[in-house]
Amino acid sequence: MKKRRLTWWQVVLIIVVLFGLIQLIPFGKAHANPAVVNAAVWDNPQTATMIRDACYDCHSNETVWPWYSNIAPVSWLNQVDVDEGRSRMNLSEWPTDKAVQQNLVNRMIRVIQNGQMPPFYYVWMHSNASFTADQKAQLIQDL
Ligand code: HEC
Repeated sequence: MKKRRLTWWQVVLIIVVLFGLIQLIPFGKAHANPAVVNAAVWDNPQTATMIRDACYDCHSNETVWPWYSNIAPVSWLNQVDVDEGRSRMNLSEWPTDKAVQQNLVNRMIRVIQNGQMPPFYYVWMHSNASFTADQKAQLIQDL
């Protein structure tokens, strides 16, 4: 029996068709931004701007959904980040209890300090979320 192999253009065709098909999966398309219940407030306007630039897309109800967040599989990754980010800390659903607030601020300081947040791949796509060591130190001091 003759062995059949796919030609390169058949492989390309299959990839294109699969890419088209995954666009039909509804997950990650809703781009919901629920109402802001209680916005976190920062005394320093500079702090407010930096946090908005670097954290709001995943940790608030004011996510700016970029064009590529409409395209699977990136849309899926964006959705998971926002769902997880909001569930850990939501700057639009800020707690009213001072001790709980302080606990979150301490966590923010820790993850900014160790470079965990904002995630590196986010910074690639959002240059205004990229801070110098001095800016980071200032941000941490003002939080
Ligand atoms: C691209 C989305 C995204 C951005 C932007 C982002 N985060 Fe996160 N953040 C996440 C996700 C997802 C998690 C949960 C998984 C994890 O901990 O890595 C998280 C977790 C956290 C946690 C909880 C971690 C812990 O150990 O307690 C804190 C605090 C946090 N982020 C702070 C920030 C701060 C501050 C910024 C801005 C400087 C920021 N994040 C920017 C997605 C994001």
